Parts: sequence; structure tokens; C-alpha cells
Amino acid sequence: MDIKELTTPAFLVDLDVLEKNIEDMTDLCSRNNKKLWPMIKTHKSTQIALMQQTAGAEGFLVGTLDEAEKLVQEGFLNIMLAYPVAGEENVARAVNLAKKARVILSLDGIDAARVLNDAAKCHGQTLEYLIIIDSGLHRFGVLPEEAVELASNLSVLEYLKLVGIGTHPGHVYGSSSPEEVRKVAGEERQAMKRAKKNLEVAGYKVDIVATGSTPTATYVAEDENITVLRPGNFVFYDNIQMALGVVPESRCALTVLGTIVSHPREDTFIMDVGSKCLGLDKGAHGISMVKGYGMIKGHPELLITDLSEEVGKIKLLGKTKIKVGDKVRVIPNHACSAANMTDYLIGHRNGRIEKTIYIDMRGGSFRKPPGQ
Ligand SMILES: Cc1ncc(COP(=O)(O)O)c(C=O)c1O
Repeated sequence: MDIKELTTPAFLVDLDVLEKNIEDMTDLCSRNNKKLWPMIKTHKSTQIALMQQTAGAEGFLVGTLDEAEKLVQEGFLNIMLAYPVAGEENVARAVNLAKKARVILSLDGIDAARVLNDAAKCHGQTLEYLIIIDSGLHRFGVLPEEAVELASNLSVLEYLKLVGIGTHPGHVYGSSSPEEVRKVAGEERQAMKRAKKNLEVAGYKVDIVATGSTPTATYVAEDENITVLRPGNFVFYDNIQMALGVVPESRCALTVLGTIVSHPREDTFIMDVGSKCLGLDKGAHGISMVKGYGMIKGHPELLITDLSEEVGKIKLLGKTKIKVGDKVRVIPNHACSAANMTDYLIGHRNGRIEKTIYIDMRGGSFRKPPGQ
């Protein structure tokens, strides 16, 4: 079956592109002697995780305990949690996971650490952790100069074991040129170098120096201090990555297929793809370079100016042959958000449908609701 015969909207993934994206990032890491622990939140799919592991990923970075539990349930046994865990129930989930797999936590303060330590003690389970370094995003973390003080405060917690440091230069998404992306990568490298050195001088062992974002990956891969790369978006890429100059359109694996359903005015078309497929995302950390709410492949004369939940408004910028009933493919601004909008992607090669890829790690979707 051809993708043109599908009903719309439909989430498509180009399998050739997906495979190339996975292969290229794995090659980048192995050429530079780095371990690859891709971030799962981009695809939340056991099948894609398996493709990444088969290609050479050593482990996975997760944004949620749901993702971690699903990975462990499916037999993936090297997991880093990107963010601190707090609250009795979630702490219990983290400790429980650590009994079944190698689970490396991320910490940036003593409060969450104390609770984790108490829970770990009850179970006689040591928990490994990274200190989160703030390399410029100013979200989580401590500055490189503060890492030793935090390590020292945490060192009294006998069931927690420091194994390294981690960061995410998410502010790269606020860049307005490829030069700025390179500059952020430089800050990321410097921050990790300083934090590592400070800790080592103070006598701490820093086995893991983990960082990662898709835009900066090529620049940080060559850094001698970094040991682990944790990019996520690269499996699909998207309109934001194109706007940042990271990849050309040919590397965008995820598209949403839609139909033009109305031509209400001379300069306006409406498609049956809205924010419930594409999200209203223009980038998490303030990118100003994307135009509209996605890119319609092969139609530079069409700009998606507004999204309602189930439909999108398209402004005509020049001459077009598009008409009501035609199908269009939209590259989302942010593929990680778009993939989270569906239960499955339709995998195709050159438009011929080959297989279904399930998005099976979304917010508790594999767990029974409370009380059932
Ligand atoms: C801690 C952390 N590491 C890595 C990533 C992956 O970044 P990207 O999607 O740019 O590759 C993220 C993304 O949110 C993150 O929060």
C-alpha cells in the first residue's frame, strides 16, 4: 500500500531516513570514542529503542519514570534518569528500578538526595547518580564552581554513589544562527571541563561526563573530557533543527500526512491537521527562527499560520497548484512533541508502507489505571 492511499491525518516515519539518522549518530560517537545513551523522550518507542541499541547505543536517557519502567520491562537494562526524582511514590519506583537494572539518577540538591538515600537504605540498595551541571540553560543543576560543594554535601549519604556529571545545553534552541549553536557547544564543553576538573582536584572520581543535545552533538563529540552523548531529537530531526542549520530537509524522518479540506478565500487553505497532531510548539527554549507551525514538504509557497485543534490554516505566499482534496506532508516544528500525539507511526520506504512503529512509552499508557 502507498502512503497516498492512507486516510488522514496520519503519522508517517520514513524508515530509510530513520535508519540513517540512527546510524550516523552511532558512527559519530564510535568514531570519537564516546558512548551513546540516546534520550528516549523523542520517540517513546520500544521498537526504535531496539533499533538504537542494535546499532550500538549502550543505554538510554529517560525523562520520566514511565519510560524507565517500560524500558526495563522490555529488557533494556542501562538507564539514566535525566531529572531528579522526589515524592515518596516516585522515589519508591526509582529504587525498585535500581534493583532490576543499572539506573543512574541525576541530582542537583540535598533535599531529593536525602529522601532517595533513606529509601535506598531501607532496601539495602546503593543508587548511582550524576551531579547535574548548569551549562547555561539555567534549569536544573549547579554551576561548575559549585559541584564540589554539592558532592561534599551528598557524600555523607551512604547509599548514594557519585559516578559522574551530566548536563543538557537546552538554551541552544534559543540560537539564531549556526554560529550561535557552535558557541553554545563551546560553553557546554567548558562547563563540563571545569566541573570535572574541580571535582577531580577535590578527590572525587568522575567516570561519566555526560552531555547532549542534537544541535551541539557534532561539536561536543570531539571533546576529550566528554564520555557519554545523550541526544534525543536526532532520530527524527524536524523543522526546528532545519531552522538551526543542523540538517537539511532530507534528514527529517517524521511527517504528518493531511488533506486540504477547504479553500475559503483566495489566499487561504485549510488542512485536516491541527495542534492535536503538530502541537503549538515553536521550540521549548525560545527559538525565533522557525516560521509557522510546520513545513509543508514540496510547497514553499504555503505557510501554516494558525492551528486549531483539528485543522490548520495555510496562507498562500505565491502561485500554487494545490487544491481541495490534495494530500500534503507536514514536517512538524518539534518532532518529539508530534510523536507524543499518536499511538503509532506508519513506517514507509519511498512511500510504500512497510510496518507500524508503536509509541508505547507515553505517560503511563502501558500501565493499568489506579484501582484496576
Ligand atoms: C537532560 C537532557 N538531555 C538530553 C536531551 C536531548 O536533547 P535533544 O532533543 O536536543 O537531542 C534533553 C532534551 O530535552 C534533555 O532534557
